[in-house]
Amino acid sequence: GDRIGPPSPRPVWHLTPERNWMNDPNGLVHVDGVFHAFFQYNPGGAGWGNMSWGHAVSEDLLTWRELDVAIPFTDNEQVYSGSAVIDHGNTSGLGDGVTDPVVAIYTAATTDRLQAQALAVSRDRGMTWERYAGNPVLDRGSREFRDPKVFRYSGGDGPARWIMVAVEAVAHEVLIYSSENLRDWTWESKFDVPMPLDELWECPDLISLPLDGEERWVMLLSTHSHDPANTQGSRMRWFLGDFDGHRFVPAPGEQWRLLDLGRDFYAGVTFADAPDGRRLMLGWMSNWQYAREVPTEPFRGAMSLPRELSLRRADARAGSGGIDLVQTPVVPEGLEWRPVDVAAHEPAEVEVGVTGVLSVEADLAGGRTLALELCSGDEVLATVTLDGASRELVFDRPAPGGEGVHETFPSVRRMPLGGDGRLASVQIFLDAHLVEIFACDGAAVMSHQAFVGADGWRVRVAGDASAQVMVGATDTE
Ligand code: FRU
Repeated sequence: GDRIGPPSPRPVWHLTPERNWMNDPNGLVHVDGVFHAFFQYNPGGAGWGNMSWGHAVSEDLLTWRELDVAIPFTDNEQVYSGSAVIDHGNTSGLGDGVTDPVVAIYTAATTDRLQAQALAVSRDRGMTWERYAGNPVLDRGSREFRDPKVFRYSGGDGPARWIMVAVEAVAHEVLIYSSENLRDWTWESKFDVPMPLDELWECPDLISLPLDGEERWVMLLSTHSHDPANTQGSRMRWFLGDFDGHRFVPAPGEQWRLLDLGRDFYAGVTFADAPDGRRLMLGWMSNWQYAREVPTEPFRGAMSLPRELSLRRADARAGSGGIDLVQTPVVPEGLEWRPVDVAAHEPAEVEVGVTGVLSVEADLAGGRTLALELCSGDEVLATVTLDGASRELVFDRPAPGGEGVHETFPSVRRMPLGGDGRLASVQIFLDAHLVEIFACDGAAVMSHQAFVGADGWRVRVAGDASAQVMVGATDTE
């Protein structure tokens, strides 16, 4: 790898590659009690290139073990993003004696600059992989057709089938196909409700979630702009609707809504075959605007905490009559909590270490505020303000000290605090350079990178609100 500096503090609760470059999660699948995460990976260095599927496994979604590269690039093919399914009953015929092979559906990005969908099969429960000799299985002669997400659909009248969502990234379309065998695909429909900005559409997912005893559907999508005037770069959206096995139909009055209000959450997709039908999502915690400059060593790229997705009627008091997409992080068991001594009007300071959680309950009555400065030594890497006047959480990440960073790295982002207009409850997960903030019981989430040093996080708490702040940590660090 191209190691150039001292090792960076490594996240403990998040998936990072031992070394080299990582972007999107791929092929998320749960097999025999083991969660497999594949990911966009460069086996040869810490920059994007030689795209292959790296591989890691976990039983608790928080501690990961990296394995050998699962699907390596070849002389004429890079292995772009995609998904994996357990092919119960060997509908694909690729099992070769195995009744439930695991099948990966990925984008073959070839040296002739075409993008088509291809298969690889694992006959040993996801451990080793072989490309299908009949690749590609779905080719539209396009240069921007990618990121197939496949799931089993058994609703409607007919027999169960496989459904694929994939994008035409530049044409701004999510394409829906169906198949009985994962090899032959039939066009069904496209979903192309536009967005205000001209961004690439990438990494779609389509999931069902229960609400009030009914099954609703949510389209997930990642969008990115290369335009330097677009100060967002990469981010994710979701759309509420219904799916009848052929078409995704928007719910009345719905639009694309942001899924994560921070700068560093992209390409999130859900696990296939997760226990109890849970919808567990991992995202890549970076932003294409500056992903290539992320100053961690000797790895570059990290996944988010796993987040369980659900739908909830929006809290009427929060002023929204609609339906919220709720993200509930999977958190380590056995956290030990200690209180931070916070007296109103007197700043408090606490050493969190490289990895820990801040749980904050603040009384913002009368427009009071509470500010948490997230510091590395004496440098403030970000300030989180709970603002009782606007009822918002404001995240302010200035330009870090040291050499050049991308012009869009410094940023201010806001999200609602919800609640009863007075009490705010916020969880802040700090794990090396990864900062994930949950408010409104998971209906408001933001994820950011901030490059803390080896001594870890020091947090200063100040403001005129009365607050209870607890620090949670595991003793394994
Ligand atoms: C999203 C993405 C995908 C593509 C992959 C290539 O981050 O651009 O559309 O498949 O990364 O690494």
